[in-house]
Amino acid sequence: MLRRLHSEQPESFEFTPANLAWAQNQVSKYPQGRQASAIIPLLWRAQEQESWLTRPAIEYVADMLGMAYIRALEVASFYFMFQLQPVGTVAHIQICGTLSCMICGAEDLMAVCKDKIADKPHTVSADGKFSWEEVECLGACTNAPMAQIGKDYYEDLTAEKLGQLLDDMAAGKVPTVGPQNGRFASEPESGISSLTEFVNGSIKLNASAQLADDIGDTIKRIDGTEVPVVQGWEDQSNGGAAAAVSLASDAVSTPVSKPSSTTEEAAAKVEPATSEATADTAVLKPSKELPGQADLAERKGEWRYEGGDKADAGEKTSAEVKATTNVSEPVEASAEDKPAALDAAREGGADDLKLIKGVGPKLEKLLNSMGFFHFDQVAAWTDKELGWVDQNLEGFKGRASRDNWVSQAKTLASGEETEFATRAKKDDIYKD
Ligand code: FES
Repeated sequence: MLRRLHSEQPESFEFTPANLAWAQNQVSKYPQGRQASAIIPLLWRAQEQESWLTRPAIEYVADMLGMAYIRALEVASFYFMFQLQPVGTVAHIQICGTLSCMICGAEDLMAVCKDKIADKPHTVSADGKFSWEEVECLGACTNAPMAQIGKDYYEDLTAEKLGQLLDDMAAGKVPTVGPQNGRFASEPESGISSLTEFVNGSIKLNASAQLADDIGDTIKRIDGTEVPVVQGWEDQSNGGAAAAVSLASDAVSTPVSKPSSTTEEAAAKVEPATSEATADTAVLKPSKELPGQADLAERKGEWRYEGGDKADAGEKTSAEVKATTNVSEPVEASAEDKPAALDAAREGGADDLKLIKGVGPKLEKLLNSMGFFHFDQVAAWTDKELGWVDQNLEGFKGRASRDNWVSQAKTLASGEETEFATRAKKDDIYKD
């Protein structure tokens, strides 16, 4: 199906404080300079908060990660885990309509959806509780036909069973996920002849179904008000957004500890946000208003490249390897730490600061407005001065340290070139 932004969008989006702290924690899992890797969990969390993924949310996450809007939209529109239109308040039903499921009865399941929810997919039911769609193979073909509801799989479905699930969910019940015909997992329906303890012993549910059962509410959304910042596996046991993303992106994940048996128990174990997290939150939170529809034309350029990500791949010079392995952490700085600035570029004109990896047209403009025009100026920044710059890069805070601007500028000021600069010149990446 055509996946595009919904015609009606809210004015704005902002993470709740708890979700913002959680998002910041996700970003910290990735190496310096690779914060954009957190795009999927952050988009997912934004969807969890709002129930669907709005344009302001996509832009907010893109700003948070220093990405061009188009990059974030590419991700959001590619994966059908992201809902680009309003969904039911209780659950959105995704019926697999690919070969195995279609052969085994997916059309019957869709008939139930049409009957109980809405005649057309992506339409919210009259009571507002449900919506549905047909999706491509969800990788549970052995247990066809199946559906994903919320974050979980309901397999070996029949029309009758799906109808019952919808009724139960509408009534506020929490059905058990996994195979709905008594199967443990994906063993032959005729039964197994080895490892029988798994189906005849004390273990009643497969690991995935057991985790969902432990969480106790598979379709509950996380609005960020009930669970503070969490770490590692524990966050994945707290309601599922991270767990769902982990399952979706990693296929197999090995928890380091048994997940908590209930959301409340898990919440009780949760570590409070660290002071570092609080500091980082300040660094990462978008500090400007997101654009409304009216000024999109003005920001058209931002739907293209920002900050040189086009030339981000490939081999690095030894200087760049050093730069990425000795990444400096942002330093706390005060107003007196502002580096020496110029009123204007020296005779001969400003250097092309976009040759510094991480500086795009927008940041170059910002740097110029601060009085920085030349590589040797950037190369001379002390740690404190670098900290001051980092704190004052509106919308890009922390980037100067993360991308080692000083180290790159030293190379460029000496007349040498970094590999990024060479490629940036060759590819002319900022050409309109
Ligand atoms: S065909 Fe339905 S899960 Fe693969």
